Amino acid sequence: MSGYEATYAAWRSDPAGWWRDRARLIDWECPPRAAFDPSLGVYGRWFPGGRLNTCFNALDRHVAAGRGTQPALIWDSAMTGRIESFTYAELTERVARLAGALAARGVAKGDRVIVYMPMVPEAVIAMLACARLGAIHSVVFGGFAAAELASRIADAKPKAIVSASCGLEPGRVVAYKPLLDAAIALSPHKPDFCLILQRPERVCDLTPGRDEELRAAEAAAAPHACVPVEATDPLYILYTSGTTGRPKGIVRDNGGHAVALANSMSMLYGVAAGDVYWAASDVGWVVGHSYIVYGPLLAGCTTIVYEGKPVGTPDAGAFWRVCAQHGVKAMFTAPTAIRAIKREDADGRIMARHDLSRLEALFLAGERCDPDTVTWAEKLLGKPVIDHWWQTETGWAITGDFRGLGLFPVKPGSGGKPSPGFDLRVLDEAGREVPRGTIGDLVVRLPLPPSCLPTLWNNDQGFRDAYLSQHPGHYTTADAGMIDEDGYVWVMSRTDDIINVAGHRLSTGAMEEVLAAHPDVAECAVVGVKDALKGQAPLGLVVLKAGVVKDEKTLEAELVAMVRERIGPVAAFRTARVVPRLPKTRSGKVLRATIRKIADGQEYVMPPTIDDPASLEEIRGILGQVV
Ligand code: COA
Ligand code: AMP
Repeated sequence: MSGYEATYAAWRSDPAGWWRDRARLIDWECPPRAAFDPSLGVYGRWFPGGRLNTCFNALDRHVAAGRGTQPALIWDSAMTGRIESFTYAELTERVARLAGALAARGVAKGDRVIVYMPMVPEAVIAMLACARLGAIHSVVFGGFAAAELASRIADAKPKAIVSASCGLEPGRVVAYKPLLDAAIALSPHKPDFCLILQRPERVCDLTPGRDEELRAAEAAAAPHACVPVEATDPLYILYTSGTTGRPKGIVRDNGGHAVALANSMSMLYGVAAGDVYWAASDVGWVVGHSYIVYGPLLAGCTTIVYEGKPVGTPDAGAFWRVCAQHGVKAMFTAPTAIRAIKREDADGRIMARHDLSRLEALFLAGERCDPDTVTWAEKLLGKPVIDHWWQTETGWAITGDFRGLGLFPVKPGSGGKPSPGFDLRVLDEAGREVPRGTIGDLVVRLPLPPSCLPTLWNNDQGFRDAYLSQHPGHYTTADAGMIDEDGYVWVMSRTDDIINVAGHRLSTGAMEEVLAAHPDVAECAVVGVKDALKGQAPLGLVVLKAGVVKDEKTLEAELVAMVRERIGPVAAFRTARVVPRLPKTRSGKVLRATIRKIADGQEYVMPPTIDDPASLEEIRGILGQVV
């Protein structure tokens, strides 16, 4: 039996015992009375009775163990050319002071704090400062517009917001402050105060009585000690796209999260204390939460906060430069980033300028990875390139290949095999398990393992409805796929209206809500069509109101501006087409899957339930000019 199979079998035969053993990776103020209690929460809770502090486990205990002088965090800003390193002792000091500043202004255990920051060390410091106090952070990605930030403020009801004067994107400075002000104005809930990091690239005015400069507040504060919390208390809320315009607040607890992430660092990524680990993502996404901040620090690694892009900052060697300069052992990014590099450095000439001898493996996730990209990277790097599949909801990989257990051969295009902890099944619509090699709904038999969401913020029923009701006894991932004869998992597509644009998770439903608000639009549909670089790109189809005559390019520009204004530039909504009507079923459902196939130039069968077959022909004629 391979190391992977033996470990998976050991977990299967005694899940509670297996996780109880992993819980030793964490320092507990009071050990849990059980690994799992099925009677608590919606489907049970992990490590009930345990008390701990996640920040203590990420920082203080490493200082106490003699790692105080080891770099904990390296900030590498390709946007500004600056590099700063913080030892574990320095990071602990900064976090303790910011926690002190927040506490002095009234933030306490259980309070929410929104963090709306670019990729600067203070984003991580703010998250850990909340964890130190037992306050619940909710990080909002910088590429979202004011309205998206406002909806998160309204739902999380934060006592404080930590933000910055600006973010830096290639060719432009993104002023955060106007977005923050607009969001607070839009939200019915107002924070008591805001701490703003002034960046030299664009200093902003502070709102008297509400805003204070973050560095000054931090410097003036007394360091705050770690506040122990229940393992089942929330550590953070991370909002993610749901099937409607309203984002879902994914809740992460303290105990299960700490155990699962600490375990994943060795089992999956094969790194240990003292190693340099880099996730080239953003703190606004789950990858950033788990593998820029918590995972590497819980494991005593050095983490890298990179402010830049894979290409253009300054070239397609940017990632390899960071790996070489800081001695990265394991790296994690989205396939899109590798596709962008491949496009500009197909023969690896730029890559060859960098010494990648210390890099041992490249991990990819966030979207389905095409086999070509895996094969290209593997060939040029000469190291394992490992695709692994996960979701904001799970916080760590549902499937992967496990460096700590001895790798099994990669099958390019597959996401690997189920992580010990996940009982993954493939079901048909009636809830029956399908034979190997057959596509169906990918579901996880309950209970979900530690770190997975126990519920949605203030919304147990929404959690049940969205994830647990379709296949009773199982968590519905909303991904379709199959498990092959050898046990490899192939994730093929989403079963809902979520699309993945450049590894960013977006809801086409939310975009439809924006398009439908245009005064000339009677109805609309947004689908994700194939994009060579970004994996998918949104395409809008709109039907004009009766009597409206409008230039299509003008309308498209207005719709693009509206999506940018209401959802944000990250939606990358650039194409809209006017159609005479939308193809629908007789019961009035828009045939989005068929539209997508037409747009992708794929074969499709005429849906038997279609109301008017001619409507599909019209779409084909129109989309033929787009794709
Ligand atoms: N703040 C403000 N704006 C942001 C932003 C942020 N944090 N992140 C992205 N944007 C903006 C971009 O500037 C761009 O704006 P534009 O329309 O004015 O050009 C828009 O959002 C779309 O961004 P993106 O999808 O990233 O496309 P891009 O063309 O700028 O870059 C890649 C393409 C491939 C280089 C880039 O998508 C990339 O690095 N992808 C990796 C994905 C990733 O790390 N995902 C995280 C999940 S693991
Ligand atoms: P997010 O919550 O942003 O991490 O997005 C989760 C979704 O991204 C999943 O439900 C999948 O649809 C997709 N995804 C993430 N990783 C992979 C992968 N390795 N292979 C295929 N799809 C993936």
